[in-house]
Amino acid sequence: MKGDTYMANQKLGIIMNGVTGRMGTNQHLVRSIVAIREQGGVALSNGDTLMPDPILVGRNEAKLKKLSTEYGIDRWSTNLEEALADDYNEIYFDSQTTVRRADDIRRAVKEGKHIYCEKPTATSVEESLELAKLAKEAGVKNGVVQDKLFLPGLLKLQRLIDAGFFGKILSVRMEFGYWVFEGDWQEGQRPSWNYREEDGGGIIVDMFAHWRYVIDNLFGPIRSVSCLGATHIPERIDEKGKPYTCTADDAAYGTFELEDGIIVQANSSWAVRVNRDDLLTIQVDGTEGSAVAGLRDCKTQHRVNTPKPVWNPDIQNPHDFLAQWEEVPDNQVFDNGFKVQWELFLKHVFADEPFPWDLLEGAKGTQLSDLGLKSWKERCWVDVPDLHV
Ligand SMILES: NC(=O)c1ccc[n+]([C@@H]2O[C@H](COP(=O)([O-])OP(=O)(O)OC[C@H]3O[C@@H](n4cnc5c(N)ncnc54)[C@H](O)[C@@H]3O)[C@@H](O)[C@H]2O)c1
Repeated sequence: MKGDTYMANQKLGIIMNGVTGRMGTNQHLVRSIVAIREQGGVALSNGDTLMPDPILVGRNEAKLKKLSTEYGIDRWSTNLEEALADDYNEIYFDSQTTVRRADDIRRAVKEGKHIYCEKPTATSVEESLELAKLAKEAGVKNGVVQDKLFLPGLLKLQRLIDAGFFGKILSVRMEFGYWVFEGDWQEGQRPSWNYREEDGGGIIVDMFAHWRYVIDNLFGPIRSVSCLGATHIPERIDEKGKPYTCTADDAAYGTFELEDGIIVQANSSWAVRVNRDDLLTIQVDGTEGSAVAGLRDCKTQHRVNTPKPVWNPDIQNPHDFLAQWEEVPDNQVFDNGFKVQWELFLKHVFADEPFPWDLLEGAKGTQLSDLGLKSWKERCWVDVPDLHV
């Protein structure tokens, strides 16, 4: 049964631009908006229910029609101008490729739409800040996807931090990555623009936008960054089977110093084979205990359970190190992180509930990737100044 037949008493028109893409379709349409419609909308604290009423916007009529039929969404259009001119549509959402985002957000702000969008918000900190400023001046609500904060593994990590489990946190090691096929004998599992700098690609631009909000929110403000990038795979094959030169970095070896002395290392790579619990693992070491979080799971080792290994290559290793950790239980039901953030944004727009992940926070992500690129190019540490609009 589709949502409109439920009791929702308040419809909210949402322009979804870039909805035919990988993130647009899977995470934002199917896992978020369609799921919210199927559950009967978003319940507000005053008893009202909010029903998202999307209009699917893109270039390709056939793709839009297919999505519309498959997911029971009546409204679709290839004309963004028209969708923006319609007052019924109160929110503009953008999950287009990064280079296309800023122009359409500017147009949407001009039309008085509230803005929600994918990260990175733009390809330079100046442009990201300009968008934050425009939205602030226009008085429209705004938000940026910061989905990793809502991953069960990271929520468990947050739970440990809130409980004071770690004592003083000393260091954090983040390992992100997997092998992205080159496209020759097996199709690549990410769009080819990710490997072309001129199209907004690059792992620093992509992942530092995530690392900024993950680190800031869990461990504290980043004060300086050192980054070495690399393009390990120089040529790939695109969606049409044509070889292209990779002009963007596909690996980044970063170190961050936080305000309170915590040191964070983050390896990000699309040219690494996975020999760890998950595609992203975050190890936190503190004086009282340590933890390793993946996307869904999190395991701990407390000070009192810490084994005492002694370096001796002359004997077989007597420890099963991986077995010496304890799982953090779920203790709650975890919903899809993109959906949870959509629900919070809709409540922010409609019921003025707090939503701290705005375009300024998004600009901080772009700032970190800009400074990471600068550090790589100039082979030096770079300080991260405060950002304001
Ligand atoms: N939050 C996350 O974890 C996460 C993960 C991956 C990507 N992203 C971000 O999401 C965005 C989209 O990434 P994706 O992997 O879905 O890419 P994609 O290539 O699959 O989708 C891009 C979308 O933009 C549209 N588009 C591209 N060129 C266009 C043009 N010339 N005119 C009109 N529309 C055009 C495409 O039709 C498609 O709908 C990027 O900004 C990326 O950084 C976020």
